[in-house]
Amino acid sequence: MQTQLPTAPLPSVESPRTNGQPGGPCAMVIFGASGDLTKRKLVPALYNLSRHRLLATEFAVIGFARRPGTTESFRAQMRADVARYCDCAVEPGFWDWVESRLHYVSGDVTDATSVKRLEKQLAELDRDHGTHGNALFYLATPPEQFGPIVRALDTAGLARESGERWRRVIVEKPFGRDLASARALNEELRAVLSERQIYRIDHYLGKETVQNLLVFRFSNGIFEPIWNRRYVDHVQITVAETLGVEARGGYYEGAGALRDMVPNHIFQLISLVAMECPISFDANAVRDEQSKVLRAIAPLSPEDVLSRSVRGQYGAGRAGGKELPDYRAEAQVDPHSSTETFVAMKLELDNWRWKDVPFYLRVGKAMARRVTEIVVQFKRPPFALFRGTAVKELGANRLVIRVQPDEGIHLHFGAKIPGAVMRIGTVDMAFAYADHFGTEPATGYERLLYDAVLGDQTLFQRADMVEAGWSVVQPMLDVWQALPPRNFPNYPAGSLGPAEADQLLARDGRRWLTPAS
Ligand code: BG6
Repeated sequence: MQTQLPTAPLPSVESPRTNGQPGGPCAMVIFGASGDLTKRKLVPALYNLSRHRLLATEFAVIGFARRPGTTESFRAQMRADVARYCDCAVEPGFWDWVESRLHYVSGDVTDATSVKRLEKQLAELDRDHGTHGNALFYLATPPEQFGPIVRALDTAGLARESGERWRRVIVEKPFGRDLASARALNEELRAVLSERQIYRIDHYLGKETVQNLLVFRFSNGIFEPIWNRRYVDHVQITVAETLGVEARGGYYEGAGALRDMVPNHIFQLISLVAMECPISFDANAVRDEQSKVLRAIAPLSPEDVLSRSVRGQYGAGRAGGKELPDYRAEAQVDPHSSTETFVAMKLELDNWRWKDVPFYLRVGKAMARRVTEIVVQFKRPPFALFRGTAVKELGANRLVIRVQPDEGIHLHFGAKIPGAVMRIGTVDMAFAYADHFGTEPATGYERLLYDAVLGDQTLFQRADMVEAGWSVVQPMLDVWQALPPRNFPNYPAGSLGPAEADQLLARDGRRWLTPAS
């Protein structure tokens, strides 16, 4: 049974900061401009921003990479790529404007003459486009280059701010590969930049549905009073992908599902679901509350790791309409690989709001369906009233926040099934983003780039958040490394992970609530 909410438009409330004005003057320098991220996400996002007139006239881009090339060849390449990746028909008027702002410098950051060329190009853009000396450096490179790039910026004086002139650095993931390396990277960045200049990006925060968690929780009076241990039985987060590792075997072998998804994307979701209401939308006010959630996660002892976490690796099967081989048979993957492509775990938050409310997480590749979903399962009501009726048991209310695809929110509740006998059915009150607000082509990077130009760090991770996330998963990394798995592969592609993940919940008398289809 499906009950639709009325479709009347809701009044929109804009935060005072994002009043729809174009971002200020600036030059954006993309390091690693010949890579995938630039063509798939960054340039299409700039194009989308231009369509919404959210880029200043005084804006220009420099693509910087080792690959030989010229401004002309870069523009031609981006023109071809934007048509392929922007998920919409490219309107020449807007694209031509973006294209006219693209420039290319070929070079190596460890080579002083390359950096000189970059400096010269920046000065020219400042003169030709009036970028006011402001610069946004985007590190879209493999992580080994983050340190050398920042040091090169420092040596050339390019990271230095003066007067009104700002300099900011966006750092892509992965941010470290464990707690020690994340700390070391933070130190390396802060040797050159102040925290105010560092924008650690997590593209999950660019998703509308993730940003909506704050709005849903704190702009509606009816949910917040029941959002706690008194009413909530447990929370589940599922992030399932149908894709295998595809061409990323080289990277993934050294990462695995835990590093790839948990301390970053999944912990962003947990922190937004579990945080207290911040005092304002000020970046530090929001991030203080997120950080407190991560620090409240009860530390896992080695025994906890064994009893509360599950790892898996896919074997051959059919997922997302495609036959996939064993993970171990994928390109650039060790045929005896111990790398996990699936993780499930049970975490507990040791604070007043969430004590004794388990948070179950699972994330995996080559799964039965693509779905990212947060399920808040409420406690069952007392049954006494229904004793002696045909009702055998009462269901519990459930709120399902669908992050992707089919973005929306569902509330499940019980209703009397019409008829002379007392019976209760579960009905679903559904809100679909597409029905109410339509859909707009977006890469997820638009808001993040716009915010970085505006100098709003709310949707970027602060150093302490990153370190708190790694602290939680470090015991798992340690135990798993000490005890290599003996049963891999342990789930077929096209399933929802290994049986142990079901047992993890079954031991607590629960089951996963996001189905396989
Ligand atoms: C990336 C991971 O950060 O997120 C990938 O490295 C993963 O392995 C991707 O596929 C998932 O992002 P999304 O937006 O498709 O959920």
